[in-house]
Amino acid sequence: NRVVLAYSGGLDTSVILKWLQQTYSCEVVTFTADLGQGEELEPARAKAQLMGIKPEHIFIDDLREEFVKDYVFPMMRANALYEGCYLLGTSIARPLIAKRQIEIARQVGADAVSHGATGKGNDQVRFELGYYALNPDIKVIAPWREWDLTSRTALIEFAEKHQIPVPKDKRGESPFSTDANLLHTSSEGKVLEDPWEEVPDYVFSRTVNPEDAPDSPEIITIDFERGDAVAVNGEGLSPASLLAKLNELGRTHGIGRLDLLENRFVGMKSRGMYETPGGTILHVAHRGIEQITLDRGAAHLKDELMPRYAELIYNGFWFSPEREMLQAAIDHSQDKVTGTVRMKLYKGAAHIIGRKSPYSLYSEKVVTFEDDQGAYDQRDAEGFIKLNALRLRLLGRREG
Ligand code: ARG
Ligand code: SIN
Repeated sequence: NRVVLAYSGGLDTSVILKWLQQTYSCEVVTFTADLGQGEELEPARAKAQLMGIKPEHIFIDDLREEFVKDYVFPMMRANALYEGCYLLGTSIARPLIAKRQIEIARQVGADAVSHGATGKGNDQVRFELGYYALNPDIKVIAPWREWDLTSRTALIEFAEKHQIPVPKDKRGESPFSTDANLLHTSSEGKVLEDPWEEVPDYVFSRTVNPEDAPDSPEIITIDFERGDAVAVNGEGLSPASLLAKLNELGRTHGIGRLDLLENRFVGMKSRGMYETPGGTILHVAHRGIEQITLDRGAAHLKDELMPRYAELIYNGFWFSPEREMLQAAIDHSQDKVTGTVRMKLYKGAAHIIGRKSPYSLYSEKVVTFEDDQGAYDQRDAEGFIKLNALRLRLLGRREG
């Protein structure tokens, strides 16, 4: 039997690799995804080889374009935020990893898949709902829920016993846990566990402190086509390079830091720190282009559906009929969401300062307080208000 392991090349998943070989005496196939986490992936190949994985069983895939085009962008069309703030950077990456693992399992004839998420978090749920949706008969091995390597010391002892290199900075307790990709970096645990204590400076890795950001603002434009960003400052870019470009701008201006105490799907509250520089700019920009192109009814319905859609992604139901139904409605709404947004980036914030579109619904002629030359008859408002007031007046009379 064979198992496909989501393998980062780090200490924890290396221990898992060895543990799988030992516990299940199975052949391990490793899968390492480049989602733009900014780490060299070739060392993962060398490490896997060192642990006896056959070269044809080591998969290293660059999934950056697919990640942004087919996962991040569809989610951005919805303006998705979990619990009002979280841009779902970790949540949205899990279904893609799960999908690729199942594809590889099929390709190499593996009957099982495995991941390195703990038994206490959301990620185990997201990975496994993805696996089961795409292959109902797959066997799932979640080492963190099974093994007795419950302390850091036990884990390191196991590593040393099996000649798994332990980097110096991993010898002691690591100060917090992170997850990174092109959209965001998330940090949780240890030094972040006291929700009253401010997040220490050293936790931030991809944004400058807004207090130290440049004193002069930077003006940029973002072009949208049917709800997706296609250019920055007039330069057309692929989805992944566009997000990378916005990440650079966001880093410089300290944009997208978030300290959040959130509700995990499994029931407990957890405190985390997120950095989503480019994603934050994109979120604000997308709202800006919708302001001028979306009808009120469509816009307000989208805003009602959004929390539901965000919760589905957070809880791991990307591959579900209800997520796909909502996606169809959201995508339909984006038909005319085309145009340009002008923004000012300044000390931790991205402000909209202008928007325009060939499909603009904004009419200066209608809205102006100057003479509108008959575009809008103010006398119509009297009946409009009277009929809307009717029931309020009936209520008012009853109260006497
Ligand atoms: N709480 C975030 C989520 O559920 C991030 C989880 C992974 N982060 C981490 N630092 N291990 O999406
Ligand atoms: C983990 O438990 O592996 C990370 C945190 C989470 O999934 O919520």
